[in-house]
Amino acid sequence: MRQHFLIDPELTFLNHGSFGACPIEVLNHQRALQDEMEKNPCEFLGRRSALLLSAARAALADFLGTRASNLIFVENATTGVNIAAHSIALSPGDEVLACDLEYGACDAAWDIFCQRQGATYRRIPVRLPFDAHAFAADMKNAMTTKTRVLFLSHVTSSTALILPIEELIGVARERGIIVVIDGAHAPAFLELDLDALGAHFYTGNCHKWMCAPKGAGFLYVAPDLQDTLAAPVISWGYVAQGDDSPRRLYTGTGALEERLQWLGTRDPSAFLSVPRAIDFLAAHDWRKKREDCRALALETALILCGRFGIAPIAQASALGPMVAIPLPPCDAERVRAALFERHRIEIPVGLHNHRPFARISLHLYSTRADAMRLVTALPDEVARAS
Ligand SMILES: Cc1ncc(COP(=O)(O)O)c(C=O)c1O
Repeated sequence: MRQHFLIDPELTFLNHGSFGACPIEVLNHQRALQDEMEKNPCEFLGRRSALLLSAARAALADFLGTRASNLIFVENATTGVNIAAHSIALSPGDEVLACDLEYGACDAAWDIFCQRQGATYRRIPVRLPFDAHAFAADMKNAMTTKTRVLFLSHVTSSTALILPIEELIGVARERGIIVVIDGAHAPAFLELDLDALGAHFYTGNCHKWMCAPKGAGFLYVAPDLQDTLAAPVISWGYVAQGDDSPRRLYTGTGALEERLQWLGTRDPSAFLSVPRAIDFLAAHDWRKKREDCRALALETALILCGRFGIAPIAQASALGPMVAIPLPPCDAERVRAALFERHRIEIPVGLHNHRPFARISLHLYSTRADAMRLVTALPDEVARAS
């Protein structure tokens, strides 16, 4: 499968998770769209873009288990989380509840939005090795009458854990708590049915596990909250216009499109290439191959945990094709740099709560030989950096 990607043949690429990898045929499709746009930008952006985006959203909605009218394209999950946070009015004393496994940039967004409104961003510490039942119980116990928002990742970042959000969304909804889910990694990492999940806001990336071009993400907003949306960029969709206004050809219709579709001139080709990425995954049987990648990531993690004499981060049920491997005390950045410089292995090695982890992520192009190169190199490099 490596021939379908531009990844440097010299590299052992074990970090699909950070920025994804886009197949050549999807990139070619994106470039063709850009060429078409440049032939007449006025026609493409000014008169066709709303219809084109609506068709691309329909394909994405089908993939995610919702309707196109509940989705809007955003560049990435960071933007999606910011839009959700920006749209929820908090009062002094309110609390946004999260856990300490969240992505740093999103923590920063909630910290700042809370500070501005006199609210508190409260992060519950999660014990590792991870136990989904204990986690769900801790989060439920942490919900109080002050909790206005529950914010959780579906798949966590440096620890790569699948959180039991289904159960927690149900409990939060019963208690009148707004749920915002950061699904940056989730689409194509696991099966999604956004309508059944029932979060109020759910953002995700298409450029990670769906293999779309970079800069393609989405924000799902439950129908009853769409009128409360506050766009970070006020543009033409906010200007009063009739249903037959020619501006509708790019601002679209309905609250989500009007507020978040036309944010000034930008290149929509990554969004418009999402259906091609969906087709690519289907043509290459990603659903089945994902299980192979998952099994290999788990096996690799187990071998290395055995070598280090450390317990795995979680049971298999909380893990997917990306797995965090706990390391003995070492200089994490030195290990990462040595793996890259000496072995040409690209893999993130970082700290979570002062503990070092390497995170392996595998996709269609990954091989057993790739994973075994890590098994050979990592223990030596950890020993050198201890
Ligand atoms: C859980 C989580 N949230 C958000 C992000 C940010 O994604 P993006 O940079 O595409 O906005 C990441 C990136 O890896 C992530 O792991």
